Amino acid sequence: MKDDGQRPTEARAPMPIVVEDVSFTYPSGTHALRGVSLRVSPGEAVAIVGENGAGKTTLVKHLNGLLKPGTGRVTIGDWDTREHTVAKMAARVGYVFQNPDDQIVERTVGDEVAFGPRRLGQPAAEQQANVAAALATVGLTEAAKTHPYDLTAPQRKLVTLASVLAMRTPIVIFDEPTMGQDARGVALIGDIVDRLKAEGRTVLTITHDIDFCAAHFGRAIVMADGQVLADGPAADVLTRADVLATTNVEPPQLVRLAQALRLKRAPLTVEEFVAEVVGSE
Ligand SMILES: Nc1ncnc2c1ncn2[C@@H]1O[C@H](COP(=O)(O)OP(=O)(O)OP(=O)(O)O)[C@@H](O)[C@H]1O
Ligand SMILES: [Mg+2]
Repeated sequence: MKDDGQRPTEARAPMPIVVEDVSFTYPSGTHALRGVSLRVSPGEAVAIVGENGAGKTTLVKHLNGLLKPGTGRVTIGDWDTREHTVAKMAARVGYVFQNPDDQIVERTVGDEVAFGPRRLGQPAAEQQANVAAALATVGLTEAAKTHPYDLTAPQRKLVTLASVLAMRTPIVIFDEPTMGQDARGVALIGDIVDRLKAEGRTVLTITHDIDFCAAHFGRAIVMADGQVLADGPAADVLTRADVLATTNVEPPQLVRLAQALRLKRAPLTVEEFVAEVVGSE
């Protein structure tokens, strides 16, 4: 068997995400999810967009079992999240929290990134290799001995991202990964998403950065008021003015430019835009 450092049973089994008619109400009485259904196939890259309070974080917290559905069902492969602990779910679903300070528990960056792999029971050598690779990926190798709170908030977000990468889960979920990042950070995170996609992992991202979404995600889900408002190819969903008008989501800059120029088609990439402009001359 080829050794790719992954635990064979979790890494190779097909791991569709199935959310069936899920509703969830916080103890405060807020109905955060109202009958959400969706299915994500292994290897898909999906962006979840929508206004503040739409229920995006509540939804993804259902995928790793942090929250259990009030009604309805969530399954990850053959596991119903209600029947497994969060610790067990972590072998299948890696979740990078919206706020890194909700995630960080250790006193050094190196220990923090090793936390997940250790909890998953990765053998020591594999653990070391995964931690080193994840730190290198986010450019924090030199910071391994640093206390996470001696880093900036955007750097702490990269630490939490590395923690999840080191777990090598088949499904990776990012909650607002680009928030607070400068252009270099955004490009780095885009590269990480592309690499995970190339490895065949399933990647879900919550984002307010529609250009980031357009550049890296084939499918977009728009949420509003605890419901899925639209779900489909990003190129369709992100250009539907009617959908975007009902949320605070701004269409990508290229789409707005295309609309201002009254181009027939709304392109999502620079290449498509150029082709459209040159083609329409
Ligand atoms: N722990 C909580 N207790 C009570 N209500 C909550 C809690 N977390 C979220 N909510 C409420 O549930 C609703 C959905 O919140 P959620 O965090 O899922 O939205 P979101 O789409 O992730 O928003 P944002 O873009 O601001 O992160 C909101 O009305 C929010 O105020
Ligand atoms: Mg959120």
